[in-house]
Amino acid sequence: MTQLLVFAGSTRQNSYNRRLAQVAADLARTAGASVTLLELSDLKIPLYNADLEAQGTPADVLRLKQILDDHPAWIICSPEYNGSYTALLKNTLDWASSPVKNDAYWSDGSKPFAGKVVGLLSASPGALGGLGSLNHLSPMLLALQCWVCPQKFALGRAGDAFDETGRLKAESHQASVAAVVDQVLWAGRRLAS
Ligand SMILES: Cc1cc2nc3c(=O)[nH]c(=O)nc-3n(C[C@H](O)[C@H](O)[C@H](O)COP(=O)(O)O)c2cc1C
Repeated sequence: MTQLLVFAGSTRQNSYNRRLAQVAADLARTAGASVTLLELSDLKIPLYNADLEAQGTPADVLRLKQILDDHPAWIICSPEYNGSYTALLKNTLDWASSPVKNDAYWSDGSKPFAGKVVGLLSASPGALGGLGSLNHLSPMLLALQCWVCPQKFALGRAGDAFDETGRLKAESHQASVAAVVDQVLWAGRRLAS
C-alpha cells in the first residue's frame, strides 16, 4: 500500500488549496493508498534564519523532516502568489532541506526529498488556476532530487469550483485531480519496487 502525503501551501481557513488537498486525499484513499493529510499550521515552524538554526533545529522541523521521509509519495497543493508559490511553502521546504548539525541521519539536506514521487496541484480564483506556482515549484523539487510527475492540474475559478461539502462540482475537474493522484500512486509503486 502506497504511503501518500498530501499538503497545501496555505493555512487560510477557507483555502481552496486545502479543499483540493482533501479531494486528492479522498481519491487516493479510494484508490487504496494510505494517506496522511498534513496541515502545515499544526507545525510550529519559524521563518528560516541561519542564526536561529545554529541554536538548534526546531523540534517541529525535525517532525516535518520525519513526516516527509516516511512517505515515498507526496501531493502538494500550491497557491499562487505573484506568479510563484507561497512564502509558507518556500519556508517549509527550505527548513526541510537544511542539514541538521551533528545529526548523522539528517546531515544531507536532500534526505527527505531524494527519490520522492511528487504530484502537483494548484487552485486559484484566477483563470490559470495558479499554474505559475507549479512552474516555479517543479524545478525546486527536481533540484532536491524529487521525481516530479508530468501530470499536473491547476484549478481555475476555484471560488466556483467546489460545492458546499467541499467536492468538486465538475466531473472534468474531478477527473483531472484523479489523473494526478493515479500517476503519483503508479510511479510511487514502481519506484518502491
Ligand atoms: C500576495 C498575493 C499575490 C497573489 N498573486 C496571485 C497570482 O499571481 N496568481 C493568482 O492566480 N492568484 C494570486 N493571488 C490570489 C490567490 O490565488 C488567492 O488568494 C487564493 O485564494 C490563495 O490560495 P488559498 O485559497 O489556498 O489560500 C494572490 C494572492 C495574494 C495574497
